[in-house]
Amino acid sequence: MSGAKREIVLGVGGGIAAYKACDLLRRLQDLNFSVTVVPTPSSLNFVGTATWEALSGRSVSTEVWQDVEKVKHVSLADQSDAIIIAPTTADLLARLVQGRADDLLTNVVCASSKPKFLVPAMHPQMWLNPTTQANVEILRSRGFAVMQPATGRLTGEDSGVGRFPDTNEIIAAFLEHIGSTQDLVGKKILISAGGTREAIDPVRYIGNRSSGKQGQALAIEARNRGALVTMVLANSDASELAGVKTLKVETAAEMHSALLANMQDSDVLIMAAAVSDARPTSVATEKIKKNDLNSIDLVSNLDILKDLSTSANDSQVIVGFAAETSNLEELGKAKLLSKELDLIYVNDVSNGAVFASDESAGYLISADGESTYIEQTSKAKIAKYILDKVVSRLGYANG
Ligand code: CTP
Repeated sequence: MSGAKREIVLGVGGGIAAYKACDLLRRLQDLNFSVTVVPTPSSLNFVGTATWEALSGRSVSTEVWQDVEKVKHVSLADQSDAIIIAPTTADLLARLVQGRADDLLTNVVCASSKPKFLVPAMHPQMWLNPTTQANVEILRSRGFAVMQPATGRLTGEDSGVGRFPDTNEIIAAFLEHIGSTQDLVGKKILISAGGTREAIDPVRYIGNRSSGKQGQALAIEARNRGALVTMVLANSDASELAGVKTLKVETAAEMHSALLANMQDSDVLIMAAAVSDARPTSVATEKIKKNDLNSIDLVSNLDILKDLSTSANDSQVIVGFAAETSNLEELGKAKLLSKELDLIYVNDVSNGAVFASDESAGYLISADGESTYIEQTSKAKIAKYILDKVVSRLGYANG
């Protein structure tokens, strides 16, 4: 079931923040959700049906009186895995408390037994109104997840609590709420990504060409399958991933301490980062003049993966990476043994660079002796294969 498209309803209430829900819809689609938009009739004053139909690629209704033969309120309630309503207005909160069914959206909510996630947005005085607050409490007690609005500048001159939260925050909270049907739910996965850099002087460093793409693909796949993901990311300017706690580091030593601090709490470590094998013995405080730059004394960096795997407990699953040009399987198996890993993915770099690419090929080797060659494919697919193996190793480790 991993990777399967999930059906959701995006309800849109009649507040000015409706225009921000256009971006939310796009991001939800990026996360592999199939989205049917159900606006309230009053929300069409802000964003019209044509916009929602064009963005979602689906027909859009606001009333049960449209497409009556499809009995949309029941079919949408049955077919969707969750309902998110963003923005949720004060009026909509009140109608949901009452169990009213006076438009298509409230009908769908009434008919649905699936997770419901509300994103209120309104003027602070409306949000802080005791009636609104009481409505929120009632809905929470009935199992609705109700997000806290953000604080800041409002539509008019004033500011306060009531703003529509940042899209990334909404998605992170929504994924946390609905993740309960997936195979990594509740598992804590620690992923390293990118390439470390070791300073030579204030302007130069020893680095590598890792783009961080494989590590990020793993973080996305793990998050989509319900895991709580922490990513230690070295030197990548990729934008923040919604629902992934990202810790940015520069050097191997920083990466080691960030991983160490999170290791005990994690079920899985995936070491996708390219770690610099050595660093300059000392870092010059002033820029080294070119005439003095003839050689650099190096000292080895700690093998982070080996350090963490040898002190890991039996229930933790440890995944390593390698890049080889020949004897991939043999070298991969040896590395798996010497670094005490559960799994290793050996990138086949015999045909040129893999670093900036969106694809790779290689062997996925498991400690139980299973070894599979994965033909050239996307890093997203490779992430999926690796996590499929992680899921079975988790069962093995905990069984
Ligand atoms: N790794 C690490 N710390 C290092 C070097 C590597 O944690 N100082 C991790 C990488 O993140 C990767 C794995 O070890 O998961 C494999 O690294 P690789 O460079 O391929 O292997 P090495 O053990 O360094 O051996 P060699 O370069 O000689 O093949």
